[in-house]
Amino acid sequence: MLERVPTGIAGLDEMLEGGIPRGRTVIIVGGPGTGKTIMCTQFLVNGIMMYGENGIFVSLEESRSHLYQAMERFSWDLDRLEKAGNFRFVDASPLCRAAGDVKIGKYAVGRREFSILGLMNTIEQIAELTDAKRIAVDPLAMIIFQYKDMHERRNAYVDMIDSLTATGATCMTTMEVPSTGPGTVVEEEYLAHGVIALQNLQIGKAMTRVMQIRKMRATAADFQPRPYKIDNSGIVVYADETIF
Ligand SMILES: Nc1ncnc2c1ncn2[C@@H]1O[C@H](COP(=O)(O)OP(=O)(O)O)[C@@H](O)[C@H]1O
Ligand SMILES: [Mg+2]
Repeated sequence: MLERVPTGIAGLDEMLEGGIPRGRTVIIVGGPGTGKTIMCTQFLVNGIMMYGENGIFVSLEESRSHLYQAMERFSWDLDRLEKAGNFRFVDASPLCRAAGDVKIGKYAVGRREFSILGLMNTIEQIAELTDAKRIAVDPLAMIIFQYKDMHERRNAYVDMIDSLTATGATCMTTMEVPSTGPGTVVEEEYLAHGVIALQNLQIGKAMTRVMQIRKMRATAADFQPRPYKIDNSGIVVYADETIF
């Protein structure tokens, strides 16, 4: 029996026949402001509060204070969850800045040694220490785009998926793309076990948020585009509605 990891996001689990297949790595693709960071955090917070699964947020962009502050809007108290030992924030954003040696938590990572493998090594250690069942890596762009060569870039993401898979955790990674229309597919979508696309669609005068599961290995899923909203409870998907 394929075990499911419910996201706890209203509507989405229905679309996924109960949740993401356990141990898989999904990529969330979408333009800026579509809710990728919110979705990752909601997945982790629900994991802790609803399903007793610890989580790690690996941030390549937002600082701890910015993320924690932004997520207070949804009444997600990351600071409290962290103090209780259920949540860990891994600030990997210094890796993406220009110079000097950097630290991730107590682990020193020299800039020149920086590689996906270095980062993953750290994540694997922290995952074990935290007994994490869910991991989010948000957003991938910074690490992936350091590779100019498409072959290297593919390898880098494959390494990351392998490494995330080795932790046994169910994982969300994100990728910012200018458009997620049917014609635009980023390379990483071929490699991830599942793809969820978020989009702001202009329909007439109104802007509608649309979520589409584009791929989910090992399971059937609802591949129709469905409207979603972001409100004070986070993301809510209208799994029974169509967009037209
Ligand atoms: N309480 C809220 N109600 C409605 N929309 C919100 C709320 N808080 C944030 N948003 C929306 O969430 C989006 C930002 O989400 P975020 O996850 O940071 O996006 P991304 O990571 O994809 O760039 C913005 O479009 C913002 O308008
Ligand atoms: Mg973001």
